[in-house]
Amino acid sequence: MTSAPQALDGARVVLGVGGGIAAYKAAHIVRGLVASGASVRVIPTASALRFVGAPTWEALSHERVLTDVFEDVDEVAHVRIGQEADLVVIAPATADLLARLRMGRADDMLTATALMARCPVVVAPAMHTEMWQHPATVENVAVLRERGLVVLEPDSGRLTGPDSGPGRLPEPEAILAAALAALTAPTGGSGEPARDLAGVRVLVTAGGTREQIDPVRYIANHSSGRQGFALAAAALARGAEVELIAANVDLHTPPGVHRTDVGSAAELADAVAARRESADVLIMAAAVADFTPAARADSKIKKTGDADVPVLELVRTQDILRTAVAARADAGDGDGGARPRVIVGFAAETGDVGTTSLDHARAKARSKGADLLVFNDVSGTGERAVFGAASTVVSMLDRDGEVLAEAAGDKTVVSHTVLTQVARLLGRVGSEA
Ligand code: CTP
Repeated sequence: MTSAPQALDGARVVLGVGGGIAAYKAAHIVRGLVASGASVRVIPTASALRFVGAPTWEALSHERVLTDVFEDVDEVAHVRIGQEADLVVIAPATADLLARLRMGRADDMLTATALMARCPVVVAPAMHTEMWQHPATVENVAVLRERGLVVLEPDSGRLTGPDSGPGRLPEPEAILAAALAALTAPTGGSGEPARDLAGVRVLVTAGGTREQIDPVRYIANHSSGRQGFALAAAALARGAEVELIAANVDLHTPPGVHRTDVGSAAELADAVAARRESADVLIMAAAVADFTPAARADSKIKKTGDADVPVLELVRTQDILRTAVAARADAGDGDGGARPRVIVGFAAETGDVGTTSLDHARAKARSKGADLLVFNDVSGTGERAVFGAASTVVSMLDRDGEVLAEAAGDKTVVSHTVLTQVARLLGRVGSEA
Protein backbone atom coordinates (compact mmCIF):
# COMPACT_ATOMS: atom_id res chain seq x y z
CA MET A 1 0.00 0.00 0.00
CA THR A 2 0.98 3.63 -0.26
CA SER A 3 2.79 5.80 2.29
CA ALA A 4 0.80 8.88 1.25
CA PRO A 5 -1.32 10.50 3.97
CA GLN A 6 -4.66 8.77 4.38
CA ALA A 7 -7.77 10.70 3.48
CA LEU A 8 -9.27 10.37 6.96
CA ASP A 9 -6.12 11.39 8.83
CA GLY A 10 -7.16 13.45 11.82
CA ALA A 11 -10.86 13.48 10.89
CA ARG A 12 -13.29 13.38 13.81
CA VAL A 13 -15.95 10.92 12.83
CA VAL A 14 -19.13 10.08 14.71
CA LEU A 15 -20.52 6.64 13.97
CA GLY A 16 -24.16 6.40 14.97
CA VAL A 17 -25.51 2.86 15.28
CA GLY A 18 -29.23 2.14 15.10
CA GLY A 19 -31.01 -0.80 16.70
CA GLY A 20 -31.08 -3.38 13.95
CA ILE A 21 -29.54 -6.79 13.49
CA ALA A 22 -27.01 -5.25 11.07
CA ALA A 23 -25.47 -3.35 14.03
CA TYR A 24 -22.78 -6.04 14.19
CA LYS A 25 -21.57 -5.00 10.73
CA ALA A 26 -20.91 -1.50 12.08
CA ALA A 27 -17.98 -2.97 14.04
CA HIS A 28 -16.19 -3.40 10.69
CA ILE A 29 -16.96 0.20 9.83
CA VAL A 30 -15.31 1.38 13.08
CA ARG A 31 -12.24 -0.70 12.26
CA GLY A 32 -12.09 0.72 8.73
CA LEU A 33 -12.45 4.31 9.95
CA VAL A 34 -9.76 3.86 12.60
CA ALA A 35 -7.45 2.15 10.09
CA SER A 36 -7.91 5.12 7.72
CA GLY A 37 -6.62 7.50 10.38
CA ALA A 38 -9.92 8.85 11.79
CA SER A 39 -10.72 9.28 15.46
CA VAL A 40 -14.09 7.67 15.96
CA ARG A 41 -16.80 8.31 18.53
CA VAL A 42 -19.45 5.59 18.47
CA ILE A 43 -22.95 6.62 19.52
CA PRO A 44 -25.32 3.67 19.58
CA THR A 45 -29.03 4.09 20.29
CA ALA A 46 -30.36 2.32 23.38
CA SER A 47 -31.83 -0.43 21.22
CA ALA A 48 -28.54 -0.84 19.29
CA LEU A 49 -26.92 -1.75 22.61
CA ARG A 50 -29.29 -4.73 22.83
CA PHE A 51 -27.63 -6.10 19.68
CA VAL A 52 -23.98 -5.15 20.29
CA GLY A 53 -22.75 -4.03 23.72
CA ALA A 54 -20.79 -0.90 24.65
CA PRO A 55 -17.52 -2.79 25.39
CA THR A 56 -17.25 -3.79 21.73
CA TRP A 57 -17.55 -0.19 20.58
CA GLU A 58 -15.21 1.10 23.27
CA ALA A 59 -12.55 -1.50 22.51
CA LEU A 60 -12.66 -0.80 18.78
CA SER A 61 -12.82 3.01 18.98
CA HIS A 62 -10.76 3.55 22.15
CA GLU A 63 -13.40 6.07 23.21
CA ARG A 64 -16.15 6.03 25.81
CA VAL A 65 -19.56 5.23 24.39
CA LEU A 66 -22.42 7.63 25.11
CA THR A 67 -26.06 6.89 24.39
CA ASP A 68 -28.10 9.10 26.68
CA VAL A 69 -28.12 12.90 26.75
CA PHE A 70 -27.94 12.74 30.56
CA GLU A 71 -24.48 11.15 30.50
CA ASP A 72 -21.47 13.48 30.87
CA VAL A 73 -23.82 16.43 31.29
CA ASP A 74 -20.99 18.57 32.72
CA GLU A 75 -19.21 18.32 29.34
CA VAL A 76 -22.40 19.12 27.40
CA ALA A 77 -21.53 16.15 25.23
CA HIS A 78 -24.85 16.19 23.35
CA VAL A 79 -23.84 19.57 21.94
CA ARG A 80 -20.07 19.31 21.72
CA ILE A 81 -19.65 16.01 19.85
CA GLY A 82 -21.89 17.11 16.97
CA GLN A 83 -20.31 20.55 16.83
CA GLU A 84 -16.80 19.14 16.60
CA ALA A 85 -17.53 16.35 14.11
CA ASP A 86 -16.03 16.43 10.61
CA LEU A 87 -18.29 13.59 9.49
CA VAL A 88 -21.28 11.70 10.87
CA VAL A 89 -21.99 8.18 9.59
CA ILE A 90 -25.16 6.44 10.71
CA ALA A 91 -25.18 2.71 10.02
CA PRO A 92 -27.44 0.89 10.26
CA ALA A 93 -30.27 3.44 10.25
CA THR A 94 -33.58 1.81 11.13
CA ALA A 95 -36.96 3.06 9.88
CA ASP A 96 -37.56 4.53 13.33
CA LEU A 97 -34.23 6.35 13.34
CA LEU A 98 -34.90 7.80 9.87
CA ALA A 99 -38.26 9.06 11.15
CA ARG A 100 -36.65 10.66 14.18
CA LEU A 101 -33.92 12.28 12.07
CA ARG A 102 -36.51 13.63 9.68
CA MET A 103 -38.53 15.15 12.53
CA GLY A 104 -35.45 16.78 14.03
CA ARG A 105 -35.91 14.93 17.33
CA ALA A 106 -33.15 15.18 19.92
CA ASP A 107 -34.32 12.59 22.41
CA ASP A 108 -31.11 10.61 22.62
CA MET A 109 -27.41 11.28 22.14
CA LEU A 110 -27.40 10.21 18.48
CA THR A 111 -30.30 12.35 17.27
CA ALA A 112 -29.09 15.32 19.37
CA THR A 113 -25.64 14.95 17.80
CA ALA A 114 -27.09 14.71 14.28
CA LEU A 115 -29.09 17.88 14.93
CA MET A 116 -25.98 19.74 16.07
CA ALA A 117 -23.74 18.55 13.24
CA ARG A 118 -22.84 20.96 10.43
CA CYS A 119 -20.70 18.46 8.56
CA PRO A 120 -21.50 15.78 5.96
CA VAL A 121 -23.92 13.17 7.31
CA VAL A 122 -24.00 9.76 5.58
CA VAL A 123 -26.90 7.47 6.45
CA ALA A 124 -26.95 3.76 5.57
CA PRO A 125 -30.47 2.38 6.10
CA ALA A 126 -31.16 -1.28 6.83
CA MET A 127 -34.60 -2.72 7.43
CA HIS A 128 -37.17 -5.09 5.98
CA THR A 129 -38.27 -4.37 2.44
CA GLU A 130 -41.84 -3.52 3.51
CA MET A 131 -40.55 -0.86 5.89
CA TRP A 132 -38.10 0.54 3.32
CA GLN A 133 -40.84 0.79 0.70
CA HIS A 134 -43.51 2.17 3.05
CA PRO A 135 -44.62 5.66 1.96
CA ALA A 136 -43.66 7.02 5.39
CA THR A 137 -40.04 5.87 4.98
CA VAL A 138 -39.92 6.90 1.31
CA GLU A 139 -41.00 10.40 2.33
CA ASN A 140 -38.58 10.55 5.28
CA VAL A 141 -35.67 9.58 3.00
CA ALA A 142 -36.69 12.17 0.38
CA VAL A 143 -36.82 14.93 3.00
CA LEU A 144 -33.46 13.96 4.49
CA ARG A 145 -31.86 13.93 1.04
CA GLU A 146 -33.34 17.33 0.27
CA ARG A 147 -31.71 18.62 3.42
CA GLY A 148 -28.33 17.48 2.14
CA LEU A 149 -27.88 14.23 4.06
CA VAL A 150 -26.37 11.47 1.95
CA VAL A 151 -28.85 8.60 2.35
CA LEU A 152 -27.43 5.48 0.70
CA GLU A 153 -29.57 2.92 -1.06
CA PRO A 154 -29.70 -0.38 0.82
CA ASP A 155 -28.47 -3.50 -0.92
CA SER A 156 -30.87 -6.12 -2.19
CA GLY A 157 -30.58 -9.66 -0.95
CA ARG A 158 -31.25 -11.98 1.93
CA LEU A 159 -32.73 -10.24 5.00
CA THR A 160 -32.84 -11.45 8.59
CA GLY A 161 -35.73 -13.85 8.11
CA PRO A 162 -36.37 -16.13 5.15
CA ASP A 163 -37.31 -13.15 2.99
CA SER A 164 -35.13 -11.19 0.60
CA GLY A 165 -35.33 -7.84 -1.20
CA PRO A 166 -33.97 -4.31 -0.84
CA GLY A 167 -33.13 -3.53 2.78
CA ARG A 168 -29.72 -5.04 3.52
CA LEU A 169 -27.02 -2.85 4.94
CA PRO A 170 -24.44 -2.21 2.19
CA GLU A 171 -21.04 -3.82 2.80
CA PRO A 172 -18.84 -1.89 5.28
CA GLU A 173 -16.24 -1.16 2.52
CA ALA A 174 -18.94 0.45 0.38
CA ILE A 175 -20.16 2.57 3.31
CA LEU A 176 -16.58 3.65 4.03
CA ALA A 177 -16.07 4.64 0.40
CA ALA A 178 -19.30 6.67 0.45
CA ALA A 179 -18.27 8.31 3.73
CA LEU A 180 -14.90 9.26 2.29
CA ALA A 181 -16.56 10.66 -0.84
CA ALA A 182 -18.90 12.80 1.30
CA LEU A 183 -16.13 14.00 3.60
CA THR A 184 -13.85 15.07 0.76
CA ALA A 185 -16.56 16.66 -1.43
CA PRO A 186 -16.65 20.43 -1.77
CA THR A 187 -19.17 21.67 0.75
CA GLY A 188 -22.52 23.28 0.12
CA GLY A 189 -24.05 26.11 2.13
CA SER A 190 -24.17 24.54 5.60
CA GLY A 191 -21.39 21.98 5.57
CA GLU A 192 -23.07 19.18 3.64
CA PRO A 193 -21.58 17.96 0.30
CA ALA A 194 -22.28 20.34 -2.59
CA ARG A 195 -25.09 19.13 -4.84
CA ASP A 196 -23.46 20.68 -7.89
CA LEU A 197 -24.09 17.54 -9.97
CA ALA A 198 -27.72 17.09 -8.87
CA GLY A 199 -29.69 15.40 -11.63
CA VAL A 200 -26.63 15.02 -13.88
CA ARG A 201 -26.35 11.58 -15.49
CA VAL A 202 -22.78 10.37 -15.22
CA LEU A 203 -21.58 7.25 -17.02
CA VAL A 204 -18.26 5.93 -15.71
CA THR A 205 -16.20 3.06 -17.12
CA ALA A 206 -13.78 1.35 -14.75
CA GLY A 207 -11.33 -1.53 -14.60
CA GLY A 208 -9.39 -3.26 -17.32
CA THR A 209 -10.63 -5.28 -20.26
CA ARG A 210 -9.66 -8.90 -20.91
CA GLU A 211 -9.14 -10.20 -24.42
CA GLN A 212 -9.64 -13.91 -24.55
CA ILE A 213 -6.98 -15.95 -26.41
CA ASP A 214 -8.47 -19.35 -25.69
CA PRO A 215 -10.82 -20.64 -22.94
CA VAL A 216 -8.11 -20.30 -20.25
CA ARG A 217 -5.88 -17.41 -21.33
CA TYR A 218 -6.42 -13.74 -21.90
CA ILE A 219 -4.57 -10.46 -22.47
CA ALA A 220 -5.20 -8.04 -19.61
CA ASN A 221 -3.73 -5.02 -17.84
CA HIS A 222 -3.06 -3.79 -14.32
CA SER A 223 -6.12 -1.59 -13.83
CA SER A 224 -7.90 -2.31 -10.53
CA GLY A 225 -10.97 -0.15 -11.15
CA ARG A 226 -10.35 1.89 -8.00
CA GLN A 227 -10.20 5.24 -9.77
CA GLY A 228 -13.46 4.65 -11.65
CA PHE A 229 -15.24 3.41 -8.53
CA ALA A 230 -13.97 6.41 -6.54
CA LEU A 231 -15.30 8.70 -9.28
CA ALA A 232 -18.67 6.97 -9.13
CA ALA A 233 -18.89 7.35 -5.33
CA ALA A 234 -17.77 10.98 -5.52
CA ALA A 235 -20.29 11.86 -8.25
CA LEU A 236 -23.04 10.21 -6.23
CA ALA A 237 -22.12 12.26 -3.14
CA ARG A 238 -22.58 15.40 -5.26
CA GLY A 239 -26.05 14.41 -6.36
CA ALA A 240 -25.39 12.77 -9.75
CA GLU A 241 -27.23 9.73 -11.11
CA VAL A 242 -24.37 7.36 -11.71
CA GLU A 243 -24.05 4.37 -13.99
CA LEU A 244 -20.91 2.30 -13.83
CA ILE A 245 -19.61 -0.10 -16.46
CA ALA A 246 -17.09 -2.32 -14.72
CA ALA A 247 -14.56 -4.40 -16.64
CA ASN A 248 -13.29 -7.18 -14.37
CA VAL A 249 -13.43 -5.24 -11.12
CA ASP A 250 -13.41 -6.91 -7.73
CA LEU A 251 -14.69 -3.97 -5.66
CA HIS A 252 -17.98 -3.26 -3.89
CA THR A 253 -20.39 -1.19 -5.93
CA PRO A 254 -21.07 2.22 -4.36
CA PRO A 255 -24.62 1.96 -2.94
CA GLY A 256 -27.07 3.65 -5.30
CA VAL A 257 -24.87 3.28 -8.37
CA HIS A 258 -26.20 1.14 -11.21
CA ARG A 259 -23.49 -1.32 -12.28
CA THR A 260 -23.07 -3.38 -15.44
CA ASP A 261 -20.22 -5.86 -15.72
CA VAL A 262 -18.34 -6.49 -18.97
CA GLY A 263 -15.29 -8.51 -19.96
CA SER A 264 -13.71 -7.49 -23.25
CA ALA A 265 -13.09 -4.21 -25.07
CA ALA A 266 -15.84 -5.10 -27.56
CA GLU A 267 -18.36 -5.67 -24.74
CA LEU A 268 -17.31 -2.39 -23.14
CA ALA A 269 -17.71 -0.58 -26.48
CA ASP A 270 -21.25 -1.99 -26.88
CA ALA A 271 -22.19 -1.09 -23.30
CA VAL A 272 -20.97 2.50 -23.74
CA ALA A 273 -22.64 2.87 -27.15
CA ALA A 274 -25.97 1.76 -25.68
CA ARG A 275 -25.82 4.35 -22.89
CA ARG A 276 -23.76 7.34 -23.97
CA GLU A 277 -26.56 9.27 -25.65
CA SER A 278 -28.56 9.35 -22.45
CA ALA A 279 -25.56 10.44 -20.40
CA ASP A 280 -24.65 14.04 -19.64
CA VAL A 281 -21.11 13.05 -18.75
CA LEU A 282 -18.96 10.14 -19.95
CA ILE A 283 -15.86 9.36 -17.93
CA MET A 284 -13.61 6.76 -19.58
CA ALA A 285 -11.52 5.65 -16.61
CA ALA A 286 -11.28 2.05 -17.86
CA ALA A 287 -8.03 0.74 -19.32
CA VAL A 288 -9.17 -0.60 -22.67
CA ALA A 289 -7.12 -3.08 -24.66
CA ASP A 290 -5.92 -1.58 -27.94
CA PHE A 291 -5.46 -5.01 -29.53
CA THR A 292 -7.40 -8.24 -29.35
CA PRO A 293 -6.72 -11.69 -30.84
CA ALA A 294 -7.96 -11.88 -34.43
CA ALA A 295 -9.66 -15.15 -33.56
CA ARG A 296 -10.36 -16.81 -30.25
CA ALA A 297 -9.40 -20.50 -30.12
CA ASP A 298 -12.34 -22.65 -29.04
CA SER A 299 -10.12 -25.08 -27.18
CA LYS A 300 -6.95 -24.59 -25.18
CA ILE A 301 -3.93 -23.97 -27.40
CA LYS A 302 -1.50 -26.89 -26.91
CA LYS A 303 2.24 -27.18 -27.37
CA THR A 304 2.80 -29.38 -30.37
CA GLY A 305 6.57 -29.68 -30.24
CA ASP A 306 9.51 -28.57 -28.11
CA ALA A 307 10.35 -25.55 -30.24
CA ASP A 308 6.81 -24.72 -31.18
CA VAL A 309 5.66 -21.17 -30.36
CA PRO A 310 2.26 -20.07 -31.63
CA VAL A 311 2.03 -16.70 -33.32
CA LEU A 312 -0.83 -14.65 -32.03
CA GLU A 313 -2.43 -12.44 -34.63
CA LEU A 314 -3.90 -9.30 -33.13
CA VAL A 315 -6.34 -6.76 -34.51
CA ARG A 316 -7.18 -3.26 -33.30
CA THR A 317 -10.14 -2.68 -31.00
CA GLN A 318 -12.48 0.26 -31.26
CA ASP A 319 -11.23 3.46 -29.64
CA ILE A 320 -14.31 3.99 -27.48
CA LEU A 321 -13.39 7.49 -26.36
CA ARG A 322 -12.67 8.73 -29.87
CA THR A 323 -15.88 7.08 -31.13
CA ALA A 324 -17.91 8.92 -28.47
CA VAL A 325 -16.28 12.25 -29.38
CA ALA A 326 -16.91 11.65 -33.11
CA ALA A 327 -20.53 10.54 -32.57
CA ARG A 328 -21.22 13.66 -30.55
CA ALA A 329 -19.67 15.84 -33.25
CA ASP A 330 -21.87 14.13 -35.87
CA ALA A 331 -24.97 14.71 -33.75
CA GLY A 332 -23.90 18.22 -32.83
CA ASP A 333 -26.39 20.92 -33.63
CA GLY A 334 -24.23 23.77 -32.52
CA ASP A 335 -26.23 24.61 -29.40
CA GLY A 336 -24.36 22.23 -27.13
CA GLY A 337 -27.31 19.82 -26.94
CA ALA A 338 -25.43 16.76 -28.26
CA ARG A 339 -24.51 14.14 -25.67
CA PRO A 340 -22.56 13.39 -23.65
CA ARG A 341 -22.13 17.09 -22.95
CA VAL A 342 -18.81 16.41 -21.24
CA ILE A 343 -16.42 13.62 -22.24
CA VAL A 344 -13.46 12.81 -19.98
CA GLY A 345 -10.54 10.57 -20.91
CA PHE A 346 -7.72 9.18 -18.82
CA ALA A 347 -4.11 8.73 -19.87
CA ALA A 348 -1.51 6.75 -17.99
CA GLU A 349 1.81 7.69 -19.60
CA THR A 350 5.51 7.05 -19.20
CA GLY A 351 8.27 9.28 -20.53
CA ASP A 352 10.90 8.06 -22.97
CA VAL A 353 14.02 9.41 -24.66
CA GLY A 354 13.42 13.04 -25.61
CA THR A 355 9.73 13.07 -24.69
CA THR A 356 8.30 13.52 -21.21
CA SER A 357 5.16 11.79 -20.05
CA LEU A 358 3.45 15.21 -20.01
CA ASP A 359 4.41 15.74 -23.68
CA HIS A 360 2.75 12.42 -24.51
CA ALA A 361 -0.33 13.45 -22.52
CA ARG A 362 -0.55 16.81 -24.30
CA ALA A 363 -0.38 15.07 -27.66
CA LYS A 364 -3.06 12.61 -26.57
CA ALA A 365 -5.32 15.42 -25.32
CA ARG A 366 -5.13 17.09 -28.74
CA SER A 367 -5.64 13.89 -30.72
CA LYS A 368 -8.46 12.34 -28.66
CA GLY A 369 -10.59 15.48 -28.55
CA ALA A 370 -12.10 14.79 -25.13
CA ASP A 371 -13.15 17.86 -23.14
CA LEU A 372 -10.86 16.84 -20.33
CA LEU A 373 -7.93 14.42 -20.21
CA VAL A 374 -6.82 13.24 -16.78
CA PHE A 375 -3.18 12.33 -17.00
CA ASN A 376 -1.06 10.38 -14.56
CA ASP A 377 2.56 9.48 -14.83
CA VAL A 378 3.06 5.76 -14.38
CA SER A 379 6.85 5.77 -14.82
CA GLY A 380 8.79 4.08 -12.06
CA THR A 381 7.56 2.57 -8.87
CA GLY A 382 6.99 3.56 -5.25
CA GLU A 383 5.08 6.80 -4.80
CA ARG A 384 4.32 7.11 -8.46
CA ALA A 385 2.87 3.62 -8.74
CA VAL A 386 -0.76 4.07 -9.59
CA PHE A 387 -2.35 0.76 -10.41
CA GLY A 388 -4.22 -0.70 -7.47
CA ALA A 389 -3.04 2.06 -5.12
CA ALA A 390 -5.43 4.16 -3.06
CA SER A 391 -3.68 7.40 -3.99
CA THR A 392 -2.52 9.04 -7.20
CA VAL A 393 -1.14 12.26 -8.73
CA VAL A 394 -2.88 13.70 -11.79
CA SER A 395 -2.95 16.71 -14.11
CA MET A 396 -6.07 17.69 -16.00
CA LEU A 397 -5.62 18.87 -19.58
CA ASP A 398 -8.04 20.55 -21.90
CA ARG A 399 -8.48 19.69 -25.58
CA ASP A 400 -5.52 21.93 -26.50
CA GLY A 401 -3.22 20.16 -24.07
CA GLU A 402 -3.20 23.02 -21.54
CA VAL A 403 -3.00 21.99 -17.90
CA LEU A 404 -6.15 23.22 -16.14
CA ALA A 405 -5.61 21.78 -12.68
CA GLU A 406 -3.56 19.28 -10.72
CA ALA A 407 -4.46 17.00 -7.84
CA ALA A 408 -2.68 14.55 -5.59
CA GLY A 409 -3.76 12.20 -2.87
CA ASP A 410 -6.40 9.60 -2.30
CA LYS A 411 -8.28 8.59 -5.46
CA THR A 412 -11.50 9.93 -3.92
CA VAL A 413 -9.91 13.34 -3.34
CA VAL A 414 -8.59 13.33 -6.91
CA SER A 415 -12.05 12.33 -8.15
CA HIS A 416 -13.59 15.41 -6.61
CA THR A 417 -11.06 17.64 -8.37
CA VAL A 418 -11.92 15.96 -11.68
CA LEU A 419 -15.64 16.40 -10.97
CA THR A 420 -15.14 20.08 -10.15
CA GLN A 421 -13.70 20.49 -13.67
CA VAL A 422 -16.68 18.54 -15.03
CA ALA A 423 -19.10 20.77 -13.11
CA ARG A 424 -17.30 23.81 -14.52
CA LEU A 425 -17.65 22.46 -18.07
CA LEU A 426 -21.35 21.89 -17.42
CA GLY A 427 -21.61 25.49 -16.23
CA ARG A 428 -22.54 24.39 -12.74
CA VAL A 429 -19.72 25.63 -10.58
CA GLY A 430 -20.95 27.79 -7.75
CA SER A 431 -24.54 26.87 -8.52
CA GLU A 432 -26.59 24.71 -6.18
CA ALA A 433 -29.06 22.83 -8.34
N1 CTP B 1 -9.57 4.27 -24.67
C1 CTP B 1 -10.71 3.89 -25.34
N2 CTP B 1 -10.67 2.85 -26.22
C2 CTP B 1 -9.52 2.21 -26.48
C3 CTP B 1 -8.33 2.60 -25.81
C4 CTP B 1 -8.41 3.63 -24.91
O1 CTP B 1 -11.76 4.49 -25.11
N3 CTP B 1 -9.53 1.22 -27.33
C5 CTP B 1 -9.65 5.39 -23.72
C6 CTP B 1 -9.28 5.05 -22.29
O2 CTP B 1 -10.41 4.66 -21.54
C7 CTP B 1 -8.72 6.36 -21.78
C8 CTP B 1 -8.12 7.00 -23.02
O3 CTP B 1 -8.74 6.36 -24.12
O4 CTP B 1 -9.72 7.21 -21.30
C9 CTP B 1 -6.66 6.87 -23.16
O5 CTP B 1 -6.26 5.53 -23.04
P1 CTP B 1 -4.81 5.07 -23.47
O6 CTP B 1 -4.73 3.60 -23.38
O7 CTP B 1 -3.83 5.89 -22.74
O8 CTP B 1 -4.85 5.58 -24.97
P2 CTP B 1 -4.49 4.95 -26.29
O9 CTP B 1 -5.28 5.64 -27.33
O10 CTP B 1 -4.60 3.49 -26.21
O11 CTP B 1 -2.99 5.44 -26.46
P3 CTP B 1 -1.62 4.66 -26.46
O12 CTP B 1 -1.24 4.66 -27.87
O13 CTP B 1 -0.75 5.50 -25.60
O14 CTP B 1 -1.87 3.29 -25.91
